Amino acid sequence: MSGTKSDPSAVGSTSTSVAGIETHPVDVAEGMRRRRMHREFEDRPVPRAVLERMAWSATRAQQARSGVRHIVIVDDPDLMTVARQVLPGFVNNAPAMLVHCTDTIRAEEVLGRRGVNAATWIDAGAACAHLALMGQTLGLGVCTVTSWTDQAVQTLLGLPAHIRPDVTVAVGYVESTRKPPARGFKTRLHHNHFGTEFARDGG
Ligand SMILES: Cc1cc2nc3c(=O)[nH]c(=O)nc-3n(C[C@H](O)[C@H](O)[C@H](O)COP(=O)(O)O)c2cc1C
Repeated sequence: MSGTKSDPSAVGSTSTSVAGIETHPVDVAEGMRRRRMHREFEDRPVPRAVLERMAWSATRAQQARSGVRHIVIVDDPDLMTVARQVLPGFVNNAPAMLVHCTDTIRAEEVLGRRGVNAATWIDAGAACAHLALMGQTLGLGVCTVTSWTDQAVQTLLGLPAHIRPDVTVAVGYVESTRKPPARGFKTRLHHNHFGTEFARDGG
């Protein structure tokens, strides 16, 4: 967890530089296969430029409407310490986090109530997926965390009442992404009608 460099071979075979940031190109399917949540991070900060790149990846995630998404980038060590104290689900030693938020006033204007209650959560999930993939290209691991009260995050970050925190994503360097997959997470596939098993052609 402490001090050692991330393992570039775990995330890609070659490294290149994008805007001065070292990146390890990751095949998309391979990145999906390797994707894991991380709770143990190296004891070193994530440079601002790298956090900015992560935030960019979240801004590239699909969105139902414009002007709804806000992202708070947190790297103040004291604030991260308080986050660990007031967010029960934030069980990790990440040096930084990205907090995806929704402007609920704007969302209601452009999406209606159902949009506030549904579409904006899809926006947040899409951002999380981008962060999990982009992180791998930068030697970073992430952990999606939602076990906290809105009020705790609101107070921690000074969010106005109409800015709803959707998800906190822990970010930090990790030694490797070769952890075994979490067990028990199975998704059933259905074919045309619920309950009909999806089989390959000729199956
Ligand atoms: C919506 C959502 C909420 C989650 N909340 C937490 C959380 O509060 N704390 C935490 O440590 N992990 C949290 N996780 C991570 C899951 O526990 C993790 O994804 C799951 O164990 C499967 O592991 P994997 O993503 O590495 O395959 C959350 C994940 C999602 C998608």
